[in-house]
Amino acid sequence: MEVVDAVSVHGNGKAEIEDFDISAVVQPEPLPPILAAENGDKQNGREIVLGKNVHTTCLEVTEPEANDEFTGDKEAYMASVLARYRKNLMERTKYHLGYPYNLDFDYGALGQLQHFSINNLGDPFIESNYGVHSRQFEVGVLDWFARLWEIEKNEYWGYITNCGTEGNLHGILVGREVLPDGVLYASRESHYSVFKAARMYRMDCEKVDCLISGEIDTADFKAKLLANKDKPAIINVNIGTTVKGAVDDLDLVIQTLEESGFSQDRFYIHCDGALFGLMMPFVKRAPKVTFKKPIGSVSVSGHKFVGCPMPCGVQITRMEHIDVLSRNVEYLASRDATIMGSRNGHAPIFLWYTLNRKGYKGFQKEVQKCLRNAHYLKDRLHDAGISAMLNELSSTVVFERPLDEEFVRRWQLACQGNIAHVVVMPSVTIEKLDDFLNELVEKRSTWYRDGGVQPPCIAADVGCENCACALHKLSILS
Ligand SMILES: Cc1ncc(COP(=O)(O)O)c(C=O)c1O
Repeated sequence: MEVVDAVSVHGNGKAEIEDFDISAVVQPEPLPPILAAENGDKQNGREIVLGKNVHTTCLEVTEPEANDEFTGDKEAYMASVLARYRKNLMERTKYHLGYPYNLDFDYGALGQLQHFSINNLGDPFIESNYGVHSRQFEVGVLDWFARLWEIEKNEYWGYITNCGTEGNLHGILVGREVLPDGVLYASRESHYSVFKAARMYRMDCEKVDCLISGEIDTADFKAKLLANKDKPAIINVNIGTTVKGAVDDLDLVIQTLEESGFSQDRFYIHCDGALFGLMMPFVKRAPKVTFKKPIGSVSVSGHKFVGCPMPCGVQITRMEHIDVLSRNVEYLASRDATIMGSRNGHAPIFLWYTLNRKGYKGFQKEVQKCLRNAHYLKDRLHDAGISAMLNELSSTVVFERPLDEEFVRRWQLACQGNIAHVVVMPSVTIEKLDDFLNELVEKRSTWYRDGGVQPPCIAADVGCENCACALHKLSILS
């Protein structure tokens, strides 16, 4: 019997926690059905439904009784919906491998703050008239990241964003404000938010080719820079690409700019560290991200490696750049230099809490564990004759897309074309990887049993040496 805490609200309005046998009333929810598309967009034979909102899993909102009081029935219904949802979350957390979220945390101590509407609207460094804020935590977290990226307290400006995307939108906007007629350069494997920024700000954008690893191809970068020599350059450098976890070589990017005749006042570099921004500082061989180099901004997601339970991120830029963006807002009694208006005031507290608990040493240990476990996964895939690639500085293991979509959804794998990936985060243990591998190997033996269908060749994505298709498998095993 599984016993969980259930909250019951009594007539006096007080909530109490009591033991509650969840399995007596709640069955795990099945996975949502695979959608059949009408007017679908076909990508690699898989349909994406466009222009069709799906309501099959919607939990309808029902109006309260006429007397405006909660009835016992409604309370019981809502409690059972929440209990079922919680059970579902527990189940889905067990089988998650594809997205770079660290699901291993304990923020029990922060439960007491849920009753407050904490909002850091405006500038983190200027108190607004709204007093229920967490700026003291926010600035503490920003100072920690400023130390990590080597910029003095009086030389940086930053804020806690809603996510890595907002960091990219902000970094690229600062770049555009500093160099208004700049061309945006980003490798093809950059996150879609970078190209969204180009569309939002109506910037000229050059997509730069990538190496097989997913790293920016600096030869193509140079050719594109030279073709636009008369315009300044705004560059998005990936500290971990979304699909292959490739880390662009920041030093080589700077060298390419210099060799192409771009002086430091004619380029602005934004480092998109959403994925590995907090991992690379602990990997010795990684190109160092530091404001001692001529970079303009760095952003990172807070809910990925750090393990914050709500989406958030950190954005740091140089103080000298921010004045071009900020405006005074009398209504706030503050300055507006962020993308959003209201800002989640809980997120800084979660970040502050986890940074305090883990510190540099704790993150370093976790990074080492992730890299070790990622190697384990890649090696075991190769041993089983499955195409797989792991970039040297990465914990993202790229492998052949499983044939069965049911399997993809069960393990919540992120896929693109013929490849899928597992992002090994601190919550991904060897046991979980073993369960996944055993299941994959067993399923493959049925998918490819009679030899009619063959595993795909993914040499173009991972290189011949990592491909175990019928044509390339010899090189992987030799
Ligand atoms: C390289 C990269 N940049 C930006 C983002 C966007 O981050 P977020 O999901 O926090 O908005 C992601 C998300 O996976 C990413 O992989």
